[in-house]
Amino acid sequence: MSGDLHGRVCMVTGATGGMGRAISTELARRGATMVLLARSPASGEAARNHIVAATGNPRVEVLTADLADQSSIRRLADGFHQRHDQLHVLVNNAGAHFRRRALSVDGIEMHLAVNHLSWFLLTRLLLDSLEAGAPARIVNIGSQSMADTRRVKIRRTPRPATLDLDDLNSEHNFQPMTVYATAKLEMLMCGYALARRLTGTGVTVNTAHPGITATNIVDAISTPVLKPFLGTIKRFLLTPEQGAQAAIHLATAPELETTTGHYFIKQTEAHSPDISYNIAVQEQLWAATSDLVGLPR
Ligand SMILES: NC(=O)c1ccc[n+]([C@@H]2O[C@H](COP(=O)([O-])OP(=O)(O)OC[C@H]3O[C@@H](n4cnc5c(N)ncnc54)[C@H](OP(=O)(O)O)[C@@H]3O)[C@@H](O)[C@H]2O)c1
Repeated sequence: MSGDLHGRVCMVTGATGGMGRAISTELARRGATMVLLARSPASGEAARNHIVAATGNPRVEVLTADLADQSSIRRLADGFHQRHDQLHVLVNNAGAHFRRRALSVDGIEMHLAVNHLSWFLLTRLLLDSLEAGAPARIVNIGSQSMADTRRVKIRRTPRPATLDLDDLNSEHNFQPMTVYATAKLEMLMCGYALARRLTGTGVTVNTAHPGITATNIVDAISTPVLKPFLGTIKRFLLTPEQGAQAAIHLATAPELETTTGHYFIKQTEAHSPDISYNIAVQEQLWAATSDLVGLPR
């Protein structure tokens, strides 16, 4: 895939703000037909207007879904299939952090529902379109928080996310930052497993940590003690446009045409937590995740 995306269809989830809007703007600037995934028609329309005005590219469509709701994701995939036969880039960017344990309409803990199950279900429902569009790329936005779940990293010993396959829904143990990071670890590991399954199809899947970026999720993650200083802190973080570079690189760099099943921090390939490379655990997680979204293993 070259930098020129004319004739290419790209979908970005969480396209209404933060990095998602910046990623979508850049892909539109390069000529892609954009499909923005928004939670509401109003926020989708606002993002569409912004992107068309910024790029002059009128080929910007909006589909709406609540990614915490599996039936909504299934309708979204149907809506995409009604409009397009092919998908060339899918950026699974949407993500969220929750202070308290809450359940989705499907009875799933919200971090698990939004940060892991949603991309897994959506991507598998769109695999036919991705394979029809090959060479095609799936770009997952992960988080390096999986390597150290502490919000304030003043002590030396990192606290990596762990995986409890018997408690994926965090019924017995809920610490918000840990559960967020665990969902990102699950996304990464199922991405590795998906890359194996897509061998020979021309569809790649890679995961990137974008860097700490000044977006709404930083407000959601910050402790009450940090809140008064957030305005100042955010000035030292990446801008959404800078944070978007990691996804844009994975989505478009010609040298990554066949690169699949890798983890990047910003634009550099990186080592992910040791547990993530355990194929037996990846496969157990794949099976459990498939069960949770009602798809064959
Ligand atoms: N910012 C960082 O430092 C950082 C670091 C590492 C990884 N990340 C990851 O980067 C990705 C982008 O986040 P961001 O930093 O740009 O934060 P953001 O500004 O909060 O953007 C999150 C996006 O996800 C959407 N979203 C959340 N829940 C949704 C749902 N149930 N249904 C549909 N859409 C939903 C939001 O839509 P609404 O506008 O409707 O809420 C928003 O468009 C996330 O996956 C995040 O975990 C961020």
